[in-house]
Amino acid sequence: KKHLLAIEGLEPPAISQLLDLAESYVLLNRSGKTQRDLLRGRTLINLFFEDSTRTRTSFELAGKRLGADVINMSVSTSSVNKGETLIDTAATLNAMHCDLLVVRHDQSGAPNLLAQIVDAAVINAGDGTHEHPTQALLDALTIKRRKGRIAGLTVAICGDVTHSRVARSNIHLLTTMGCQVRVVGPPTLIPAGVADLGVSVFHDMAAGLDGVDVVMTLRLQRERMARGLVPSAREYFRFYGLDHEKLARARPDAIVMHPGPMNRGVEIDSAVADDPAHSVIKEQVEMGVAVRMAVLDILSRGQGRNEP
Ligand code: CP
Repeated sequence: KKHLLAIEGLEPPAISQLLDLAESYVLLNRSGKTQRDLLRGRTLINLFFEDSTRTRTSFELAGKRLGADVINMSVSTSSVNKGETLIDTAATLNAMHCDLLVVRHDQSGAPNLLAQIVDAAVINAGDGTHEHPTQALLDALTIKRRKGRIAGLTVAICGDVTHSRVARSNIHLLTTMGCQVRVVGPPTLIPAGVADLGVSVFHDMAAGLDGVDVVMTLRLQRERMARGLVPSAREYFRFYGLDHEKLARARPDAIVMHPGPMNRGVEIDSAVADDPAHSVIKEQVEMGVAVRMAVLDILSRGQGRNEP
C-alpha cells in the first residue's frame, strides 16, 4: 500500500517522476480539459483538523478533475467535537471504504498513525511542525518551471523555520535534488540541529540572501508560539521582512515564493509579494492543483478498489 507521508526518505527518481507527471497535469489544466476516467468510482476524503484554503481546495479540485467522488469532512461540525478520538474517526471512515484519505492535523505524526489503521492511501496535507510534502513538491515544480532546473540552485528559506512543516519538507526535497539550501532567521526561530540536515544557517538577512536564486518566505506562525515569545510584527519586519531593499542582495533574476497564507507587512512587503518581476506566489497555487493530481494518480495506481 502506498502513502505520501513525508518527503524525507523519497529518492530523486521518485521526486522527478512526480514532478514530470505534474508537468503534464499543468498542461492538461491549462487546456481546460479533465481526465475524469482516471479516478472514476474512487472516493477521496479531505479530513482537515486545521484550517486551510489552498491545500483543501486544490485536493478537492484535483480529485474532481480526475473523476473521484470527493467528500470534505468538516471537523468543526464532526463528532470529533463530541470527544471521538482520531483513531475512532479513522476507523469510522475506513468502514466507509474510502480510497484516498487526505489528512491535516496539528500533531506531528498523525497521518502516519492513520496510515497504520486505514486501508486507504493516506496523504499528509500538513502535520504539526513535521512535514507538508505536497507543498514542497509544488514549490519544486514552480522552481523547475521558472529556472529550468533544480540542481545547482541556491535557495534561501527565510523566517520562522522552527514552526514550519513547509520548511522541513522543502529542506529535504531541495537538498535531495542538489540545491544549496540556506535557512535565514532570528536564532529563536531557527531550530537547533537544522545544520545536520545539510543547510547553512544565517541570522543576518542581507548575508543570507546574497546571490541566491530563490527566496522562500515563511509565515510567522504566532499561533504555535508560547505567549510572551511572539516577536512584534514591526520589529520582525524591520529585520526579516522581505522588502525590495533586502531582495536587492539576491540575484537580479531571483524568484520570490511564499506558501501562503501571507501576512503582508510581517514576513513580506506587499510591494514584493505583488511584484511580477520576482513573485511567483500565484503560480505556486496553480502548481498545487497539478501536483496534487499527480500524487492522486500515482497513489491510486495498482490500488485495488477498497470494496467490501
Ligand atoms: N500553503 C498551505 O498549506 O496553505 P493552506 O494552509 O491555505 O492550505
